[in-house]
Amino acid sequence: MSAPPALLSVEALAVGYGPVPVLHGVDLRVTTGTIAAVLGANGAGKTTLLRALSGVLRPTAGTVRFAGEDLRGVRVEHLVRRGLAHVPEGRGVIGELTVEENLRLGALWRADRADAARALDEVYHLFAPLARRRRHLGHQLSGGERQMLALGRALVARPRLLLLDEPSLGLAPRVVAQTMALLRRLRDDTGLTVLLVEQNVRSALAVADQGIVMALGRVVLAAPAARLRDDADLRHAYLGF
Ligand SMILES: Nc1ncnc2c1ncn2[C@@H]1O[C@H](COP(=O)(O)OP(=O)(O)O)[C@@H](O)[C@H]1O
Ligand SMILES: [Mg+2]
Repeated sequence: MSAPPALLSVEALAVGYGPVPVLHGVDLRVTTGTIAAVLGANGAGKTTLLRALSGVLRPTAGTVRFAGEDLRGVRVEHLVRRGLAHVPEGRGVIGELTVEENLRLGALWRADRADAARALDEVYHLFAPLARRRRHLGHQLSGGERQMLALGRALVARPRLLLLDEPSLGLAPRVVAQTMALLRRLRDDTGLTVLLVEQNVRSALAVADQGIVMALGRVVLAAPAARLRDDADLRHAYLGF
């Protein structure tokens, strides 16, 4: 039997900041319609990986294939049009813009204006607090609402692949659980593929299909999430609990 199709496949990816190398040859595959949790200690290179995938950082070596297309040297605008959305660490909500203006930024590169309007309505339907606060400024929102807004803005672009950097950071456990449940629903109902960077390992593994553990700029383990959930020895060895 052949392997299921990978929406994202990364080979020997090397990235750094200026002359300082950070990723030393990362390999990974994410199957279409699955959630992959990227785990690992602070400084392992998780944020750097997402920045390289979304075109913020330029790789020094390696290949990134997205839906079969080589992404090297492709502009951010083109990546968004191809269906890649990045919710950065700290979430990137613009405090001086309203909720609605922030959401419209998600549709910036979209040619289909009618569908962009539909996507905006869907986001308001998904996140009722955003609909109530559409004229509020970004900086007036709570942490949980800012998280919704960042996620909503990414969804307005109708991504096929969502790159999420620590969405649960600073959120109450109830909001974390809601966020994870939403990701699971988007995967199951719309076939969304997610690369989820998380410090909250248990929450991430609870919804993920695959666990990818990074250390010192490398992938040290890629395994079914169920194995990482159930195998205490593996968890001790790679996740320290
Ligand atoms: N803007 C930057 N300039 C230089 N080095 C950086 C920068 N951002 C991160 N690094 C370094 O890259 C390494 C990986 O960082 P990062 O990708 O943020 O890890 P993680 O997200 O897993 O915590 C760390 O050693 C960090 O110090
Ligand atoms: Mg990080």
